[in-house]
Amino acid sequence: MDFKAELGFLRRIIYFLTDTKYSLSEKMQASLVLILEKIKARQGSIMLKTRKKNKAKIVASTNPKILNLEVDIDPETISGHVFTTGESVYFKDVKRSVRFKDKIRKGSYDTSSLMCVPLQGKWGVVGVINVSDHKEQNFFYQSDFNLLKDYASLLSPLIENSCLFHQLEEEKEKLESLSERLKLKQKELELTYTERSELVQMVVHDFKSPLAAIISNLDLLKYIGLSEEMKPVVETALKGAQELLTMIDEFLQVARLDDWKNKKVKLGPVALKPIVERIVEELSPLAREKEIKVSLLSQEDVLLFAEENLLQHLIQNLFSNALKYTPAQGEVKISWEVRQSRRKSDRFPFFLIFCVQDTGPGVPDELKQKIFDRFQRLQRDKKIEGTGIGLFICNRIVNMLEGKIWVEDAKPRGSKFCFTCYVTGEENAG
Ligand SMILES: Nc1ncnc2c1ncn2[C@@H]1O[C@H](COP(=O)(O)OP(=O)(O)O)[C@@H](O)[C@H]1O
Ligand SMILES: [Mg+2]
Repeated sequence: MDFKAELGFLRRIIYFLTDTKYSLSEKMQASLVLILEKIKARQGSIMLKTRKKNKAKIVASTNPKILNLEVDIDPETISGHVFTTGESVYFKDVKRSVRFKDKIRKGSYDTSSLMCVPLQGKWGVVGVINVSDHKEQNFFYQSDFNLLKDYASLLSPLIENSCLFHQLEEEKEKLESLSERLKLKQKELELTYTERSELVQMVVHDFKSPLAAIISNLDLLKYIGLSEEMKPVVETALKGAQELLTMIDEFLQVARLDDWKNKKVKLGPVALKPIVERIVEELSPLAREKEIKVSLLSQEDVLLFAEENLLQHLIQNLFSNALKYTPAQGEVKISWEVRQSRRKSDRFPFFLIFCVQDTGPGVPDELKQKIFDRFQRLQRDKKIEGTGIGLFICNRIVNMLEGKIWVEDAKPRGSKFCFTCYVTGEENAG
């Protein structure tokens, strides 16, 4: 035996089998050609088990017509027999075989001398190598058969590794395409969510103008002299319409809040005082109507780390609640003060405490937390119109502003709603 030639042969085959730039069929085809050359065989093929049960694929062949064909592993055929038993088979003249001669007659094998050896993997036979027809002689000899068996056992682990490697590659590709598809789906969903929410907001917003027209017409009716019977009818209609308008406004507030949250609202410096003054001005008719005294206890303007719309909603909700739940001739005080941050986790060195204090009925201790949940209203206030969404919105806004909100008792009576918000300046180093 020529050892040098042998070594060269093995080196070439190993090179093919281990280089990841070749596909599995390229690897198998190259190995087959090298083996056939070595054995001096005219024809041959390599079959590998697929992941389907009892199926094999012809991954390399001298006959291009059968390449990539998937076949059943049938123990009645020669390769099927090798697959199932793991035994190597050698027919010096296959036509004389007792077991397979039926097949020969049917013309399945038009070959004379044939060898078939298994590729033994760690967990069983992973494939077979078929070799037939010696190029120079009529038959293969026992020594050719032994050589083929040696090659097969030598190459089996490499071939098995290649198969596993390519299976993994396939899995990886499948996973990658799946994750791509998932990402696309997610984008689609996000898009439809925003579109839907925008559409709903538009429609709901469109309810507002006809509703406002109804309200002003009903209001007008009251002044053009109604019969005593009609008065309560119009009154109820008016009340209902006004309630609806409030509900629409609050719905729109929540929807807008969701949008802001999805769009990751950008926080930056917002001047507090002009906002407070504007809100007090806007709600002054209600205060006047109930003869409620409104006092601004703080004068200092502060730049908050916030967003103007959010801050406006927040203060407006607290102030309108104070006016709503405080009986006539009461008092509402608005105040704020800057404090130094104490915790290391605080983003800025200073924060603001903003409070709205009233002389209303207050909030019982056991409900001080609960009233910030969606649709939570105190039983005693059910006669007063409302939806129980205002404080829920306040809580959401304060979360977005990275602050806190709570209610405490005011002295001698009433409640004090407070929230915190960062004052802009240099961010805390720690
Ligand atoms: N200033 C206040 N004084 C007393 N109770 C209040 C005050 N503000 C809110 N509440 C109570 O908290 C509940 C929730 O308030 P809110 O979420 O604004 O809903 P709404 O005003 O629509 O009822 C109110 O129904 C009321 O019972
Ligand atoms: Mg409210």
